Amino acid sequence: FRMAVFASGRGSNFQALVDAQQSGALGGEISILVCDKPQAPVVELAKAANVDVFAFQPKEYASKEDYEREIAAELQQRGVELIVLAGYMRLLSPSFVEFYNGRIINIHPSLLPAFPGKDAIGQALAYGVKMTGVTVHFVDGGMDTGPVIAQKAVEIKDGDTAETLAERIHAVEQKLYSEVVSWFAQGRISLNGRNVTIAL
Ligand code: GRF
Repeated sequence: FRMAVFASGRGSNFQALVDAQQSGALGGEISILVCDKPQAPVVELAKAANVDVFAFQPKEYASKEDYEREIAAELQQRGVELIVLAGYMRLLSPSFVEFYNGRIINIHPSLLPAFPGKDAIGQALAYGVKMTGVTVHFVDGGMDTGPVIAQKAVEIKDGDTAETLAERIHAVEQKLYSEVVSWFAQGRISLNGRNVTIAL
């Protein structure tokens, strides 16, 4: 089972997936990292893990469709069956999402539909909720709006700062994402409209 990870930044989720692959828990192989920021730390993590990298500068292309066509070619060459977004800070075009419908997943640091978009952790603190969490969902044409696959709650404690809360959320993310990807690799996830079921 081959997958591609798309990321733009630090890469803690990418690294957790690599670790899960190496321990055998992922049940599949990360065939390529796709990164829209050639200088991002995640690119170095991929090189260290011997994962192929397709890094590009969006500015150097006339349109999103132009670089996405190159990405799609890379994925097809490798027989990629699942696209795992892990901090990829760009919306995919409607045609790309349509083409890979049901085969793109994302992780978001809140209990969606609360706090979509950027800085979900800051949004939750500013709102004053007592509970937030992590969502893994299918990607549709919107921003963090696709069908939910799995969620885990994380309590907000008195005195939490963006940093202390982020640390607990990231720990939960890293565990949950590998687990969900392994369900995919085992063919256990099915999508019917907005309804996602996970076979035992
Ligand atoms: C994670 O919090 C993820 O939920 C969000 O972007 C962040 C990426 O962090 N979509 P990292 O690059 O995996 O460390």
